[in-house]
Amino acid sequence: MTLQLILNIFLCILLTTRVLGQLSVYDIPPGSPGFQHGNSSQAVQFDSHSLFIDGRRIFLFGGEFHPWRLPVPQLWSDILQKMKAANFNAVSIYVHWGLVEGKSGELNWEYHRSLEEFYKVAQRVGIFVIARPGPYINAETTGGGLPGWLTNIADVARTNQTGYVNAWQSYIKDFAQMTSRYQYPNGPVIAVQSENEFYVSGDEDPTSTEYMVLLEKALRENGIDKVPITANDVYPSGNFAKGLGEVDLYGFDSYPNGFDCAHPPQWSELANYYISGHQNSAPWAPVFFPEFQGGALDGWQGVGYDGCEQLTGPEFANVFYKNNVASGSTAMSFYMIYGGTNWGNILYPGVYTSYDYGSAIREDRLLSPKYDEVKLQGMFYHASPQLLTSSILASGQSQTYTSNSGVFTSVLGLPEGPTKFYVVRQNSNNVTTPTSFLLNIDSSVGQLTIPQLGGHITLAGRESKILVTDYAFGSNFLQYSTAEVLTHTTIDSIDYVVLYVLPGQSFEASFGSTSINNVNLSGSPSVQAKVLNGSVVLFGTLSSSTTALVRFGNTAVLVVDKFTATSIWNPRTIPSFDLSPDTPSILVKGPYVVRNATIIGSTLELVGDTNRTTSILVVAPSTVRSVHWNGSPVSMTKSNLGIGLTGTIPGPVPSLSLPNLKSLKWRTADSLPEVAMGFDDSQWVVANKTEVARSQKPFYGKVVLFADEYGFHSGSFIFRGSFTGGKSSAVQLSLQGGSYFGYSAFINGHFLGSNQGFNGSDIVNATYSFLQGTLNNGRNVLTIVMDSNGLDTDWNANDAFKNPRGIRGYQLIGGSGDFDSWKLTGNLGGEDFPDKVRGPLNEGGFWAERSGAVLPGFDDSKWALGSPFVGIPKAGVQVYRTSFALDIPLGTDASLGFQFTRAPTSNYRSLLFVNGWQFGKFISNFGPQTVFPIPEGVLNHHGMNEIALTLWSLDSSGAKIADLKLVPLGVLSSGKEVVTDAMVSPIYQDLRGPSN
Ligand SMILES: *[C@@H]1O[C@H](CO)[C@@H](O)[C@H](O)[C@H]1NC(C)=O
Ligand SMILES: *[C@@H]1O[C@H](CO)[C@@H](O)[C@H](O)[C@H]1NC(C)=O
Repeated sequence: MTLQLILNIFLCILLTTRVLGQLSVYDIPPGSPGFQHGNSSQAVQFDSHSLFIDGRRIFLFGGEFHPWRLPVPQLWSDILQKMKAANFNAVSIYVHWGLVEGKSGELNWEYHRSLEEFYKVAQRVGIFVIARPGPYINAETTGGGLPGWLTNIADVARTNQTGYVNAWQSYIKDFAQMTSRYQYPNGPVIAVQSENEFYVSGDEDPTSTEYMVLLEKALRENGIDKVPITANDVYPSGNFAKGLGEVDLYGFDSYPNGFDCAHPPQWSELANYYISGHQNSAPWAPVFFPEFQGGALDGWQGVGYDGCEQLTGPEFANVFYKNNVASGSTAMSFYMIYGGTNWGNILYPGVYTSYDYGSAIREDRLLSPKYDEVKLQGMFYHASPQLLTSSILASGQSQTYTSNSGVFTSVLGLPEGPTKFYVVRQNSNNVTTPTSFLLNIDSSVGQLTIPQLGGHITLAGRESKILVTDYAFGSNFLQYSTAEVLTHTTIDSIDYVVLYVLPGQSFEASFGSTSINNVNLSGSPSVQAKVLNGSVVLFGTLSSSTTALVRFGNTAVLVVDKFTATSIWNPRTIPSFDLSPDTPSILVKGPYVVRNATIIGSTLELVGDTNRTTSILVVAPSTVRSVHWNGSPVSMTKSNLGIGLTGTIPGPVPSLSLPNLKSLKWRTADSLPEVAMGFDDSQWVVANKTEVARSQKPFYGKVVLFADEYGFHSGSFIFRGSFTGGKSSAVQLSLQGGSYFGYSAFINGHFLGSNQGFNGSDIVNATYSFLQGTLNNGRNVLTIVMDSNGLDTDWNANDAFKNPRGIRGYQLIGGSGDFDSWKLTGNLGGEDFPDKVRGPLNEGGFWAERSGAVLPGFDDSKWALGSPFVGIPKAGVQVYRTSFALDIPLGTDASLGFQFTRAPTSNYRSLLFVNGWQFGKFISNFGPQTVFPIPEGVLNHHGMNEIALTLWSLDSSGAKIADLKLVPLGVLSSGKEVVTDAMVSPIYQDLRGPSN
């Protein structure tokens, strides 16, 4: 994703001219596309309300996760289980062409690129997959997922031009053939997206439409024939909804709160074009958001992801996601649910190493407060199948609905049925103070103003509630509730329903119960019950940590405050994709996360995590007599609530023993030997091209010095240009490395200067004068070391990703001479990179990388002792190595990270390699990232770790690392899958030969 804000704002203005109206039912035009409900040969179908799986309606509650941004396949189940535990039933994935096909024609689908492995994990966890192979994905990754070698062809990407169409054939064929075997019901895949945010189409550009036609045809012909092909439009303008290139299921993305992570309290108003946009583009399909804002991205010089997490925090999720439901949506996927890491060189210039994205699940796999909010909503949406056929009956701020015109109400329901959903929120997102009101409802017992017993309903500033009337659960029903429903389930013929409000708020809930004689209250004195007009009415004002149970007839109502609600889990006890309320489930209150629940005989096997010693409450069938937590028996007693069992489960180990990096032995070597006159570059590539096919041409100079033209697409590059004679006075250069790139130039070993590209200036023009005595009359060598922050993306489908990386222009000034020859290098082997596990983008062209010094197993015993905390006294690149052992106790999920301390006076760039994986790019004067989480499996938690750190001083005054620590970011006692992936990464001897 990424939205161009200007475009977005323009569209908001354009589209908001159609104000949320009084729609009654959707206007479904005849002859709409395939996969409609009623075509019984397909397991995945839809109509204007919702998707169907196996003929049954589902609420599609999805989140985006890029498996390749967590290159440890054994951790994928951790993310998917955490999603499933929050009642997500779908994961959306981008597939990265550039990572899969590092060299044209050589595809590698193994390790972190393994789709089959991912589909198997998803199948095991029981979560649907929406696969999005691009070929263009954007995704804030280099080239937007297009491979580096594609920059060298003339034909324009994302059109039907032959060179481009030929280029993606193998990739899409492999993708489709592999994915076809995992289409539901043979696997978890329920949809495949063609292209991404592709808005150049229709009459404006027939070549784009032809391309989309070819792409969909290739997907179909290679086996994607059982699930809908979808499109993700950038806004609801109907691209590929109908006509040539039309997809089966149309959707559009939305990032309504923008990306200003520096000002988290500044919210946008709610977008109100979704309904009209949907009506105008694909009214036969559900309102489907293939991407809805799940966080925000941050770039170099940004404020860091804490700000993004706040901007898009639990209140944002509460108000904006419920507004999607109020707009009729039953299908949405949040981008991102887990962001992960731009390890290696998979970033594009607009982002840094962390791709945390302020997501519900943080980069270090810990849960953010937003996770709690989406979990509460996920539980409710699946518990409420009535939502799936509801239409918008009415909406507005009129006092028809509430006593307060500051409250906006959307009424959803079935025109013929009794159930209604009142989505209430503040009229403006600017209001951050509480608002109270009475709600006028139209229920099966007539028109009522609630609460009936006095008091009011409260919205706490930025809060939205979905309040139900005539809401069935099990064999019972709620007449109304001013508390929100969390979920309901039937256990041993007792219908449990869980209600919640924020602490300090009051509630009133009326039940259509016929068994009113026997009301039992337990747990909390703040909840009371009375019989009013033949109905059991519960009411009260909740404090924090309220858990009250009220029983009457075969109904059990659990009333909790919202924070207690977040500790309730509702795992299904049979393996299933199905999260509907009639799939057998239990209730567990307390743990950090509950991943799994299985009943074997009379034992309930719970698998999950804790962050402290935790008392749990388990409500399970009475056949359950004992409870195991992560395989160990828990001593359980009857709960004093009168239902369920309670016990105590252990927390994590109190502390971890981690090495002090400053006191380790470090060894060091020069990582820029190329500046020396006598450096042997005989194996380097000769720059001999004088023309390029792409439209971006060299500015000046005879030979082409674009790294990608010579097969180098990743990280840093080094150029050596030779010229003869000492007459020139200066060299003029245009260097292009993308925003925030850096370079240093040297003549015959003498430092000329360094500079960096800033935001919006990815080209730096410089003229360096040769100081007296630095030139030879014979051969002179100009050495330029530069890095790139990846290729640009191609948002506008205008080949911007072909913007060169390297030297765009060069010339000697004075003396009328020219360079005799140029040589260059990038990552070892270029497109024939040796490391097929870590893939084409892990390494760049620094000596430390080419020589294999960054790999585990490299013999540094002959290097000098020296630490990065001492650093270097001059411009140049130095590499440091150290090693340490970790012995994290089994059953502990320790999230560990490297924390840099910025030395403000030092102008340096560092790459951090952990066991050969580049997992950190630190730019001292851009920041903002200082903490680099390293996933277990890259970091070996049960053995040796080898660390390599480069230190590139851009200034002649030198640089050092002020401090670097290995820090715990979170420690859990965990039932997650055991990780042994650290063992499969190749070492020096596998990749570079027997010894160095
Ligand atoms: C691309 O599409 C355009 C518009 O339909 C068509 O004129 C052109 O022949 C197509 N090019 C190729 C190579 O198929
Ligand atoms: C909310 O605040 C913004 C910024 O101050 C302002 O532009 C906007 O008009 C306000 N919206 C409402 C509905 O008051």
